[in-house]
Amino acid sequence: MSALFHSFKLKDVTLRNRIAVPPMCQYMAVDGQVNDWHLSHYASMARGGAGLVIVEATAVSAEGRITPGCAGIWNDNLAVAFAPVVQAIKAAGSVPGIQIGHAGRKASANLPWEGDDHIAADDARGWGTIAPSAIAYGAGLPKQPASMTRDDIARVRQNFVDAARRAHEVGFEWLELHFAHGYLAQSFFSAHSNQRDDIYGGSVENRSRFLLETLKAVREVWPEHLPLTVRFGVIEYDGRDEQTLLESIGLIRQFKSAGMDMISVSVGFTIPETSIPWGPAFLGSITERVRKEANVPVSSAWGFGTPTIAEQVVKDQQLDVVMVGRAHLANPHWTYFAAKELGIERAAWTLPVSHAHWLERY
Ligand SMILES: Cc1cc2nc3c(=O)[nH]c(=O)nc-3n(C[C@H](O)[C@H](O)[C@H](O)COP(=O)(O)O)c2cc1C
Repeated sequence: MSALFHSFKLKDVTLRNRIAVPPMCQYMAVDGQVNDWHLSHYASMARGGAGLVIVEATAVSAEGRITPGCAGIWNDNLAVAFAPVVQAIKAAGSVPGIQIGHAGRKASANLPWEGDDHIAADDARGWGTIAPSAIAYGAGLPKQPASMTRDDIARVRQNFVDAARRAHEVGFEWLELHFAHGYLAQSFFSAHSNQRDDIYGGSVENRSRFLLETLKAVREVWPEHLPLTVRFGVIEYDGRDEQTLLESIGLIRQFKSAGMDMISVSVGFTIPETSIPWGPAFLGSITERVRKEANVPVSSAWGFGTPTIAEQVVKDQQLDVVMVGRAHLANPHWTYFAAKELGIERAAWTLPVSHAHWLERY
């Protein structure tokens, strides 16, 4: 019996299998608003059979977008534009999730295929960035952010809360806070990017404060019966990895006490100079360690998108849910093909009935 095709229950939500489409920016929004591209993209992901589809990093404020093409949910009109996307995901039997975030000092960037670097200072398409400290990321993202005031911190926390409320109102059933990848929240946690001397910087307790406060405030508006998850970079691969892992696992335990239901384990990406051991399932053992030491359900991405690997990491209890990203861009019906490759009986029935009926004996 396949482990990957077991259902997974978190709070009142049941995923039909352990396969999820992780958040993947489409860079196709206009002034933050999603459109027909997003509808067809997310509908196809859900029709392919994945148990969970998490909509891309969606900005809690206009300044929090990574690029001008990123989706946003900073007002009610932007939220309403997600309604067809939510309905299409549900209609295909998948669970609609959304990741909300703020890009911090990595905001105001060109689209990936137009450079992926900061928009030039004299280009009107760009905007000023904010971060815990006035320290630039470097490499292709050299823009110096403004150091956030206490008012800025309170405002962004409230932006997360308002975004979460809107996400619920439009029908999302799974909320992920983007605390990873060197964006605003991750940059509060990392001593590389946070050199504040107030209660939001310095000790690990202080560097964790913005993340914990935001999580707690969001939990108050996000319904108790629906999953609230966090994506967080637990390691930087900067040579200080054991210390970062210990601090991260300590914080994840506090996330859990504050109402987080599951952690999506990722990399910090807070500085450009790292030695990341890219390769199939390279985060598997780290994710397993987080699962055991923090005693929380875990998911992860990066190189798990081969059916045998995905099956094995669930069977070995390294991951509870497997995020399969780029393999879904290549093949939205990844789940169906994975089921066939793993020899699942009646593999076609991973698909909605109007496809499954014709493929059963095909
Ligand atoms: C086009 C693209 C956009 C992405 N956008 C996001 C995002 O919005 N939020 C996020 O947390 N990760 C994002 N990621 C990272 C993915 O969620 C995932 O971690 C990555 O693709 C690795 O998984 P894979 O090896 O299965 O592709 C993105 C990746 C890709 C390829």
